[in-house]
Amino acid sequence: MALRTLETLGVVGGKTVLVRCDFNVPLSAGVITDDGRIRASLPTIEHLLNAGAAVVVMSHLGRPDGVVDARYSLAPVATRLAELLTVPVHFATDTVGPVAREMRASLTPGEVLVLENLRFDPRETSTVDSERVAFAALLTNGAAAFVSDGFGVVHRKQASVYESAEAVPSVAGLLVASETDVLRRLTTNTQRPYTVVLGGSKVSDKLGVIEHLLPRVDRLLIGGGMAFTFIKAMGFSIGASLCELDRLDIVTKCLATARELGVDIILPTDVVVASGFAADADSVVTRIGAIEATPFGSSGIGLDIGPDTAALFGELIESSHTVFWNGPMGVFEMPAFADGTRAIAKALTRVDGLSVVGGGDSAAAVRALGFAETSFGHISTGGGASLEFLEGASLPGLEVLGC
Ligand code: 3PG
Repeated sequence: MALRTLETLGVVGGKTVLVRCDFNVPLSAGVITDDGRIRASLPTIEHLLNAGAAVVVMSHLGRPDGVVDARYSLAPVATRLAELLTVPVHFATDTVGPVAREMRASLTPGEVLVLENLRFDPRETSTVDSERVAFAALLTNGAAAFVSDGFGVVHRKQASVYESAEAVPSVAGLLVASETDVLRRLTTNTQRPYTVVLGGSKVSDKLGVIEHLLPRVDRLLIGGGMAFTFIKAMGFSIGASLCELDRLDIVTKCLATARELGVDIILPTDVVVASGFAADADSVVTRIGAIEATPFGSSGIGLDIGPDTAALFGELIESSHTVFWNGPMGVFEMPAFADGTRAIAKALTRVDGLSVVGGGDSAAAVRALGFAETSFGHISTGGGASLEFLEGASLPGLEVLGC
């Protein structure tokens, strides 16, 4: 079935529209370090404002576990949104309490109200259906419609994602619609060669997508911290690099399945090994198999892919017609360990076809490393959501919108 989109919403002029965004942005000492997710929802918010609606924006930030915690306040997000929009943006210090109720009642068309972090209320993420339904009823009270624009959270069955969409007429916002569109192009009639690049720290987060993608791709390139579990599974020593020992068996099986299917799982041939996990740690490039022969011995930690691997991955990416990339190749936040991630990002900008950066850390990485967003086919705002989409999972936040 097709996703219900904004065109089907009907007249919203003079009405209040509730918009679920994913403004779960990285913060450092209260300062937003990457506002990509806020900018990504501007088209939907502006569309509704131009149509004459009063817009109530809601989001989560982090995982405060149902308690009010000032570190996770959306106040900095409301401030940033006010800088990006040309209309009045107000901030309610609660979600469904007296402050929000009063501010919603006095909100006028053409204005925006941002509610405080939804996850300060335990009902948002409750596993009890009736609690989520009750919270959604309060969130949607007085709203003529619900617009789902937080693609990063469509894989969560939470009150502001699922039950709110059931409570009032609901549609996908422009962001959710375009993300869904692009990710579909990675699952049907994909132009070959199709290369998937996975990185990041935890292999356990990616096993589902690896298993699902193996029969569907031509090559799977694996870097980042998660590569070391594969490298260990192949019998090489990895020093003190990240490793999920309880996943060695399943990773070994993945390697065997790939061989049977004739799919290349390509792992680093060299890595940058550091004396410790620190931006100023000593480091050396070494071949896989020789990590413990570095001056750091068994305490050496692999923090980036090496230059040979970056060159090989780059060639394979550039010779592909479809590329999906999720997860940095190293600790890109530390300049000494950012080269691998930079090389992969650069290669993606040269793809003659569709290149997709799959959300989360990789999206933050390309922006932090200074790449123009327009250099890529698409930068997803959803890390976990885009992976689950590619896994073929049914995503509650899309299912409830007719998808
Ligand atoms: C994300 O950052 O992937 C989304 O905002 C979802 O956050 P969550 O994993 O805490 O639900």
